[in-house]
Amino acid sequence: MEEKIKALLAEVESFSSQDTKEIETFRIRLLSRKGLIPALFDEFKQLEGDDKRKYGKPLNELKQKAQGKIEELKAGADGSGQHQANRFDLTRPAPGQFPGTRHPVNLVKNEIIDIFKRIGFNVSEGPEIEDDWHNFTALNFPEEHPARDMQDTFFVARNPEWALRTHTSSVQVRAMEANKPPIRTISPGRVFRNEAISARSHCIFHQVEGLYIDKKVSFADLKQTLLYFAREFFGADTKIRLRPSYFPFTEPSAEMDVYWGLKDEVDYRMTKGTGWLEVMGCGMVDPNVLENCGLNPEEYSGYAFGMGVERIAMQRYQISDIRYLFENDIRFLQQFQSAL
Ligand code: DAH
Repeated sequence: MEEKIKALLAEVESFSSQDTKEIETFRIRLLSRKGLIPALFDEFKQLEGDDKRKYGKPLNELKQKAQGKIEELKAGADGSGQHQANRFDLTRPAPGQFPGTRHPVNLVKNEIIDIFKRIGFNVSEGPEIEDDWHNFTALNFPEEHPARDMQDTFFVARNPEWALRTHTSSVQVRAMEANKPPIRTISPGRVFRNEAISARSHCIFHQVEGLYIDKKVSFADLKQTLLYFAREFFGADTKIRLRPSYFPFTEPSAEMDVYWGLKDEVDYRMTKGTGWLEVMGCGMVDPNVLENCGLNPEEYSGYAFGMGVERIAMQRYQISDIRYLFENDIRFLQQFQSAL
């Protein structure tokens, strides 16, 4: 008995392998039901008296050592043990990790906000569900104006006095109602229009509204502020032009265009062959609007402007379809990684 235990113990101690099959063969030979160690236990059962007392412990130790050894070797063969370190290719590049990225709409919105903050504008926000007063009436929309039509506006079913705001100009009204001039504020936010979704338009998009009210604000102030913005955003040599336009809440009203150039086919498409990009609507706040918001038009004047963030993001990043901005396809969004 003693000899057999010793011999097997020596075998267990000297055995080593990284091959799963070899380890398994070894296990079967020693530990399976018909293996050498269970056979020794059978022999042990036949012993009596002193012998039984003498060999119980070493036999159990042998079994435990054999089991331990096999576990250890198996772990190594699985690749989780230290023996296996040399099986890994330590020069292989780690799998790529993609942290979150800023959405292009937010990148552009934040840049617009920063540009106006640098010249003393603060940021204000208003509710997305608006009442008729702030979205239309106070902004001098005549009662029968087509923009109030069901087709353009999402009304709230529970209360037809409420609608999803169609523009961030509603925040102008709130800013004038809540503050004394001078008021210099920009209002970024989501707006909603009941329009068919296409490559060029969506029923949800973002605008940034601007408002400046003080004594003796003139159209020259507006023009200079917009030129500053265009040069910060589009580049130092940027040229702008103001085309006469119409909005109920400004008089006079204008559209600001930025000169983009007409060098290639993309420029033709983007500028409809004119070389000019339409960037925003603007004008001098209509005296009726000032009055509606509790300001005396004899004392105060001001300008306002409003631009669509998606449109500017599409121009900046050459995005051909507005729907890309809302689908959140990771392959699209990851392209803005470096712009963080
Ligand atoms: N609210 C206009 C729109 O949704 C944009 C706009 C035009 C805002 C002229 C203004 C403005 O403040 O003066 O298209």
